[in-house]
Amino acid sequence: MALRGRRVVLGVAGGIAAYKAVELCRRLVDAGAWVSPVLTEDATRFIGALTFSALASEPARTSLFGGPEPIPHTRLGQSADLVIVAPATAKLLGKYAAGISDDLLSATLLATRAPVLVAPAMHTEMWEHAAVQENLATLRRRGVHVVDPESGRLAGGDVGEGRLADPSRIVAAAEALLSRGRDLAGVRVLVTAGGTREAIDPVRFVGNRSSGKMGYAVAEVASGRGAVVTLVSTQSRPVSESINVVAVESAEDMHREVLARFGDVDVVVMAAAVADFRPKVIAGEKLKKREGVPEVVLEPTPDILGALGESKGAQLLVGFAAETERLREHAADKLARKHLDLIVANDVSAADAGFEVDTNRAVLLDSSGAVEETPLLSKVALAGVILDQVAARLGLPPEGHP
Ligand code: CTP
Repeated sequence: MALRGRRVVLGVAGGIAAYKAVELCRRLVDAGAWVSPVLTEDATRFIGALTFSALASEPARTSLFGGPEPIPHTRLGQSADLVIVAPATAKLLGKYAAGISDDLLSATLLATRAPVLVAPAMHTEMWEHAAVQENLATLRRRGVHVVDPESGRLAGGDVGEGRLADPSRIVAAAEALLSRGRDLAGVRVLVTAGGTREAIDPVRFVGNRSSGKMGYAVAEVASGRGAVVTLVSTQSRPVSESINVVAVESAEDMHREVLARFGDVDVVVMAAAVADFRPKVIAGEKLKKREGVPEVVLEPTPDILGALGESKGAQLLVGFAAETERLREHAADKLARKHLDLIVANDVSAADAGFEVDTNRAVLLDSSGAVEETPLLSKVALAGVILDQVAARLGLPPEGHP
């Protein structure tokens, strides 16, 4: 169902399993997808481009150069709803993980923002090699989806793990990915992002190290999955046009803008790092050095999430807990205290998780305790995990069942 009318780039790398990609191509076309095959040069040693051209929706491409389009990879990458690579060889996975784009398929993989599904196939020894497994872990962390190979007969009569997944599994995974793409259709989601700035005087403020990346990732992924997204943010990062951005600076601004919209949303994800304290007095003019060191007295800011928890109706509330010790205990306490449905706890003392980096590792808790513990993920991939939990709690159909 989900494949009907969708544009799928089918990448075929050079392995013996390339012949099975013919069957996959036919099944994708049968499911109603518009399939553009891209073969690597090595793939053409195993199977003819003409075979794919005869079955697919448009002629198979094999090269960055020499075709009618001057830059085929950007056109293919930008217009795709999904990119599938089957079989994905060790070489292809290595190039993709390293960001090398020396042929049409690897360049298309870097030029796309569509979801990517790879189905590896290779000999067992290669499949189990640390280099291959580490490349795959890198790709998974970046949000690439993997259909693991199966055990069975391999080239040369060997038997073991590394056989390309059956085409029916690859089609099912593609269906699941594309239908998940719309599982939040029409759900109104308010996301907050960034650290608030609490003014001392017209030029100085008390701030924190939040980059806003986590909130932006949640907003983008929710929007991509069909939600109507409002992003209340202290940052000015580029964002998709479909997202309604409300610019704020202080906790007070954020409190006002979020509460004003609370009655009109279904979900709030408070990813912002709201300052807990602000200067009690904001100087009207820039403080001058010659007047001596100022004494900045702090007072508490409004607890936005706490206020939402007090007044909530049917809305789903998701909070974050950035901790440096006793992660689960503090997060569970915040969940209860602020009447949240879900809390995303992360250890900000780790160098690869938390502020200013692109990755995060989190424990998701609800009132029953920990519901999910993630490995180190990109913030975009973690946003997907959080939104899966949100979708489940809203009673939306699980992924893969449009
Ligand atoms: N939060 C909020 N308003 C505040 C402070 C925090 O809405 N004034 C939200 C954050 O966006 C986050 C959650 O509350 O989703 C947890 O923030 P945190 O500051 O860690 O919680 P506190 O209750 O302030 O706990 P503590 O100071 O004990 O760590």
